[in-house]
Amino acid sequence: MSIQTARRMNHARRSFVREILKAAANPGIISFAGGLPNPRFIPVDEISGLCRQILAEQGAAALQYCTAEGHPPLRQWVADQYAASGLNVLADQIIITSGSQQGFDLLGKVLVEPDDKVIVEDPTYIAAIQAFGMYEPNLSAVPMDENGIDLDLLKAALIGGARILYTMPNFQNPTGISYSADRRHQVAALLRNESTVLVEDDPYHLLGFDGNVLPPIANHLPERTVLFARIAAISVRIDDDGLVRLSGKHRPEIVGGRVRMNGGLQRKRRLGPVRRELFQLLAVGGIRPQRGQIRRWR
Ligand SMILES: Cc1ncc(COP(=O)(O)O)c(C=O)c1O
Repeated sequence: MSIQTARRMNHARRSFVREILKAAANPGIISFAGGLPNPRFIPVDEISGLCRQILAEQGAAALQYCTAEGHPPLRQWVADQYAASGLNVLADQIIITSGSQQGFDLLGKVLVEPDDKVIVEDPTYIAAIQAFGMYEPNLSAVPMDENGIDLDLLKAALIGGARILYTMPNFQNPTGISYSADRRHQVAALLRNESTVLVEDDPYHLLGFDGNVLPPIANHLPERTVLFARIAAISVRIDDDGLVRLSGKHRPEIVGGRVRMNGGLQRKRRLGPVRRELFQLLAVGGIRPQRGQIRRWR
């Protein structure tokens, strides 16, 4: 007898990401479809040394569950990084996730009812479409020009309300476009009187060749932005899920303040060791030289 899947699976499409990674794993194929980091720049020795050190120092405690939002010193470290770049967030507003997909999934779960409008850039990052897609949104794709998302078309898309605007203001995937300073202001201004949550996905801001990227849109709209930033490496992503408060019954309430995770929205995971090791890696500056190396590698 065949297994009956949940109704939402009727809309689930084949995973393009899975297919891309499957093709890339074939040694006979050089795949340009996915953005796989150069293995030379993955700090294997540093990570393995730190894992050994932490296990020797902390033993079983390092393999124990940790708080669901993430290792507190690591959250503090992330908040400090943002503060240094002008965005005032508290450690309390940071959530460590195991990748952007988990973050998108949490947002979809909390914000999106079937047929709610989710605005994306056209073209956009396929894994985001896939993750939000599980919540059966009405996706509205807004074209871009060389300065970012088209403002008139965004204004039109916002008519009738949208739950989420998903953007990548730095080195957009797949176009590579970065929003101009004006466009960042204008997008924030457009959203200021809307209930739409801005999801700002910013995994590449540290990789600009000249090191100069503009401040995030979140700086102009802190009360309504969820900012994702990969600061470490693939698989060990640090996301700032800040400034969205989730109130009772899992309904989102945007009040500009603190993240509240209710009723098991994010389950405890055995990520304690990864987070500790990551914190130490960041705290000792272990990945900074790598970024310099990556910038020089052209
Ligand atoms: C815009 C964007 N967001 C997120 C990701 C993936 O992030 P993570 O490694 O956290 O899943 C990518 C990777 O290609 C990306 O281009």
